[in-house]
Amino acid sequence: MSCRVVVLLSGRGSNFQAIAEARLPIEIVAVISNRPHAAGLDYARTHGLAAIALDHTAHPDRAAFDALLAEEIERHRPDLVVLAGYMRILSPAFIARFEGRLLNIHPSLLPMFQGLKTHERALAEGVKIHGCTVHFVTADLDHGPIVIQAAVPVRADDTPDTLAARVLRQEHRIYPQAVRWFAEGRLEINRGRVNLKDDPTSQSVFPAGM
Ligand code: GAR
Repeated sequence: MSCRVVVLLSGRGSNFQAIAEARLPIEIVAVISNRPHAAGLDYARTHGLAAIALDHTAHPDRAAFDALLAEEIERHRPDLVVLAGYMRILSPAFIARFEGRLLNIHPSLLPMFQGLKTHERALAEGVKIHGCTVHFVTADLDHGPIVIQAAVPVRADDTPDTLAARVLRQEHRIYPQAVRWFAEGRLEINRGRVNLKDDPTSQSVFPAGM
């Protein structure tokens, strides 16, 4: 039986697309966006996937919206919930409900550069290596057990956009990989760390040429 996945997104949806096109042992049972005009929903619709808009601005507060969102997700009986550019902070109650089956991708090498504008901040700090992280979501914002990371070089002439593009290419590699491992039952969380059954060496990615 394949792993049932619900995707949450807010915008472009390129990570969702990378996952959808990676031939994984999963079934994407719903794609939900808090922004009704998210491009990711269009992609879902044109590929015959259930695309659901739940506009957060129509709801009084975060707790109420998250309760509704959780109900909508549960209707699809997911084994895994994938945050793919979902740009809203989730309430503790929501996270508790899905903990252990909730993955996120963040555009930095966590725990560095939590929060927004990660590429700008990396350039401002003058770091020489930047990257992206897939992690299990816990109540700690942009924290939680790390599944896989990829590093990219920072070049002297980078702008936030050129750096973001280099990181995004790696996001599209590591997120499908992380989802595959989850679907195959290979991820074990032990005292806040994620161990990959059978192959502990492949949880860091250094692209060729680095
Ligand atoms: C990605 O770069 C993802 O890492 C980031 O939003 C972008 C979504 O792009 N997520 C966060 O910043 C979460 N804190 P996409 O819609 O094309 O996948």
